[in-house]
Amino acid sequence: MNYRYLGKTGLKVSELCLGTMTFGRETDEATSHRMLDRFVEAGGNFIDTADVYSQGTSEEIVGRWLANQTRDDLVIATKVRFGMGAGPNDIGLSRKHILAGVEASLRRLGTDYLDLYQVHCWDKRTPLAETLSTLDGLVKSGQVRYIGVSNFTGWQLQKAIDLSMHHGWEPFICLQPLYNLLDRQLELELLPICQNEGLGIIPWSPLRGGWLTGKYRRDMDRPPQATRLEKAGEKGWSEAWERYANDRTWSIIDTLLAVAEETGKTPAQTALNWVLHRPGVTAPIIGARTLEQLEGNLGAVGWSLMAEQTARLTEASELPLPYYPYGFVSGAQRD
Ligand SMILES: NC(=O)c1ccc[n+]([C@@H]2O[C@H](COP(=O)([O-])OP(=O)(O)OC[C@H]3O[C@@H](n4cnc5c(N)ncnc54)[C@H](OP(=O)(O)O)[C@@H]3O)[C@@H](O)[C@H]2O)c1
Repeated sequence: MNYRYLGKTGLKVSELCLGTMTFGRETDEATSHRMLDRFVEAGGNFIDTADVYSQGTSEEIVGRWLANQTRDDLVIATKVRFGMGAGPNDIGLSRKHILAGVEASLRRLGTDYLDLYQVHCWDKRTPLAETLSTLDGLVKSGQVRYIGVSNFTGWQLQKAIDLSMHHGWEPFICLQPLYNLLDRQLELELLPICQNEGLGIIPWSPLRGGWLTGKYRRDMDRPPQATRLEKAGEKGWSEAWERYANDRTWSIIDTLLAVAEETGKTPAQTALNWVLHRPGVTAPIIGARTLEQLEGNLGAVGWSLMAEQTARLTEASELPLPYYPYGFVSGAQRD
């Protein structure tokens, strides 16, 4: 496992981050702990959770494992924003909810500091300055080492960066966006912002929750059995099926399967390797339900696709540039 600097900081993280969204949901505690052990044994030091994953259970499972580790060897990331209770202040990015959220996450994780505290999504009702000044205070108090952001649009991210700079507050050091061969919208606005401003990128769902593992095939009219999507029930999977079960997806998967066969790697390893080497990406957050899946996904590092194979995957998954303003502006640069 290689290590990369996260954004413009001096913090070194493993090139794969272990996501823990399955912990306490489809993965029991004993398997979760074995996965954490295996990840660290493979050289991983970067672990991502969130208060909302199984309503605190994921953090608790990580916390009970952490109790037997050398805390300072690990980079622990968690998040705040989504609902943790029925009360009006149990959700959002207000000062009150963030301060309650950080205390609760520290308690569940059994640690006295978080390495990376991320806002999980934009909150349109809380003034951005209230959120950012509160996060700045958490870094100054030592409860949090760095702050990050997930699920913002381009203008929201740039505004946050500029506001923090204007006030001299601690900046966001990284973005956690959806990014994989099927979802490349990041590249329109968010990627150039991160590259210009020096934020690291830690993509979530790099396999799109399993679509890029080879088990979703062109001839299917519903998700394969015992997958995350199938377990969501028809009401749960029909929206995702409508969004992804189309010609673009199947032709990306055809290319992925062909490239994987050439490399002798699995489709999942191939798809992860592509994300890992995209410009701007620091560390994809790998998810797994079982130890075997994790074992396979750890094989995404230590090798590289050939330039021609990368180009085929990139071309097959290219999204057409929306004409306005993107196509128009890029045409004007040529003039
Ligand atoms: N910031 C956010 O809003 C956000 C949102 C989502 C996730 N995340 C973070 O990103 C992490 C990863 O997300 P994700 O779990 O969606 O990632 P993912 O890697 O795209 O999907 C993981 C799922 O794909 C299937 N899978 C994985 N490896 C496989 C393999 N080798 N062979 C066959 N199937 C395999 C499993 O589902 P099956 O049950 O179908 O086997 C597994 O649970 C999460 O743990 C969390 O930390 C963040």
